[in-house]
Amino acid sequence: MSARLINSIRQLREAIAEARRAGRAIGLVPTMGALHEGHGRLIDLARAGSGCVVVSVFVNPAQFNQKEDYDRYPRPLAEDREFCSARGADLVFAPGISEMYPREQLTTVDVARVTERLCGQFRPGHFRAVTTVVAKLFNIVQPDRAYFGEKDAQQLAAIRRMTLDLDMPIEIVAAPTVREPDGLAMSSRNRHLSPEERRVAPALYRALQEAGRLIASGVSDPAKVRCAALAALEAHPKIRIEYLEIVDPDEMQPVDSINAAVRVAAAAWLGPTRLIDNVLCQSPAS
Ligand code: PAJ
Repeated sequence: MSARLINSIRQLREAIAEARRAGRAIGLVPTMGALHEGHGRLIDLARAGSGCVVVSVFVNPAQFNQKEDYDRYPRPLAEDREFCSARGADLVFAPGISEMYPREQLTTVDVARVTERLCGQFRPGHFRAVTTVVAKLFNIVQPDRAYFGEKDAQQLAAIRRMTLDLDMPIEIVAAPTVREPDGLAMSSRNRHLSPEERRVAPALYRALQEAGRLIASGVSDPAKVRCAALAALEAHPKIRIEYLEIVDPDEMQPVDSINAAVRVAAAAWLGPTRLIDNVLCQSPAS
């Protein structure tokens, strides 16, 4: 069956009310479209866990730091709708900007500390825009469950904390990062990589894996792990590291010593394209 495409909040609320009357739980998968297998797994999880699956497709201008990045963000809506239909989604909510932001948005949601480091340090205002649009989507859809990828671990941690702190009655379900066969984390932005950039891009994940191996072998000094991961990238001067940090998985703060589970998270530029990736590592001391 084809997923129903809805552009207005009013129509979406009507369709959701009907599903609720039929006793179906609502699962929400928020996306910015240009859907790939990473999104697909989130839809599969939602399909397995909820009677009515809503996929939102909204390229949120407020969360982009560069106008060029926003302008060139891919928007293949017809393909996305087909993708959602094939994965069994019920509703595709693709609002225009004036539907989501009909007036100046004076109210925002900020999650302190969790959003301070990593991407938060290099993308001012980004997470405020993400948590605000996700809070809006949560209020519009009022889902029982919402699905997010570990690929964007800081975003996931911020959304988890927002729902806890604001008592939102929504279960946040996380899905593991889906990768290309060579290890590169799938991303809508990967299509911007030149063939040469695409060839070297998996080195980022290999460096994170190297960090993971050291941690698993008992190295507890984050500086040592960090140096080893950065050294693994030296062979690839085309990859410019923005940050590579070892943080606790809940508040995303750097750790002094690795004696519990940590996330090794990195962002890097390949030409004009920014890639992020992370791995969750268990310490033998935990
Ligand atoms: P977008 O980048 O489209 O991602 C939508 C969801 O798909 C996010 O939860 C993201 O973590 C997940 N995802 C992306 N690539 C993945 C991969 N390779 N493996 C697993 N999950 C993956 O993230 C956003 O959109 C926006 O910030 C949004 C939350 C929609 C707010 O605008």
